[in-house]
Amino acid sequence: MTTMHSDSSLAKRLKITHPIIQGPFGGGLSSVDLVAAVSNSGGLGSYGAHIFNGTEIKELCVRIRTKTDRPFAINLWVSNEDPELSKFTEPQFIAQRNHYGEVYQRFGLEPPEWGDQHPANFDEQMEGVLEAAPAVFSFVFGISSPDILKACRERGILTIAAATTIAEAVAVEEAGVDMVLATGAEAGGHRPSFLRPSEDSLVGTFALLPAVRDNVRIPVIAAGGIADHRGVAAAQQLGADGVQIGTAFLACAESGTTSAHRESLLDNIDGLTTLSRAVTGRFARFLPNELSTNAPTKGASPLPFPAQSWLTGPIKNAAAVTVDPEFSSLYAGQVVPLVKHPKVDVLMQELIRGWN
Ligand SMILES: Cc1cc2nc3c(=O)[nH]c(=O)nc-3n(C[C@H](O)[C@H](O)[C@H](O)COP(=O)(O)O)c2cc1C
Repeated sequence: MTTMHSDSSLAKRLKITHPIIQGPFGGGLSSVDLVAAVSNSGGLGSYGAHIFNGTEIKELCVRIRTKTDRPFAINLWVSNEDPELSKFTEPQFIAQRNHYGEVYQRFGLEPPEWGDQHPANFDEQMEGVLEAAPAVFSFVFGISSPDILKACRERGILTIAAATTIAEAVAVEEAGVDMVLATGAEAGGHRPSFLRPSEDSLVGTFALLPAVRDNVRIPVIAAGGIADHRGVAAAQQLGADGVQIGTAFLACAESGTTSAHRESLLDNIDGLTTLSRAVTGRFARFLPNELSTNAPTKGASPLPFPAQSWLTGPIKNAAAVTVDPEFSSLYAGQVVPLVKHPKVDVLMQELIRGWN
């Protein structure tokens, strides 16, 4: 493992060796081992904690600290429910649930009941983050309140917010967030747009990154479509102060996903993905299958987030156990044919080689 410091003010500010961030994965796909492996390799590991409560976040940080004494990031979703959820009714839930009747039967599942699940509470989660005080708090789907940003500054927690457009990046800077993540439409996982619908905010990394660089003064981290040294070098050339990589780290053995999902990323040669609301209700990028192309509902609109995930959650969990590729949630970015390395240390060496 190289111990040479990259000449990057971002790395110095984050107190890491290389300006390479492992993107957080929500929905249970992050792992303590992944975060620790990346941070111990000189990058910044991140844990996507948006399904945890404040106490679980504090316990999580204790577990991470048993495996690394290096900086790491905790990531939350500022908005945990779509505005339409407040007007959403039980008959609408049941009508949509009926579309999945055969799928529940296929997996021997009891259909989920209305009222059993509730959106996460961001303010309560945030208390856990502030108490645990990770080196970095990163967030998506909006901008944390001035009070929260002030509390982070007082505790020495650096903040990173995601932007999918120039206007979002400018809003992030104006709010006083420390760094902005320019995340192009190639990226795996959810499109975290917050000023306009994500369908109208699909700018690719090659266009978004230099435009964000030209419009803000805070450090810019590039995400979306980076999986090897060439992508890292290109991002640096386009003005990035650092890079965030998701899909390539998801394919590593240390990640929290299933071996079937990892293999589907490592074996992919066609690079075809789909953007869809069918799995959670929010727009996200997946490998196409029955679940992500909304096949069971025959075109009915997905429910607002997170209600759609209350219906699909038991299905994707059961499909993960039975290794059913059609009903698993196979998140992936467009970079998937370039994903080659099944271990963090080898992937980190590949990425580090791209940063000059
Ligand atoms: C399975 C999956 C889950 C993700 N969950 C989150 C999340 O909860 N919060 C977040 O900020 N980004 C999330 N992301 C985005 C990644 O952290 C990262 O920014 C993105 O994957 C970079 O693009 P790439 O996939 O082309 O490397 C997720 C990505 C994937 C693939």
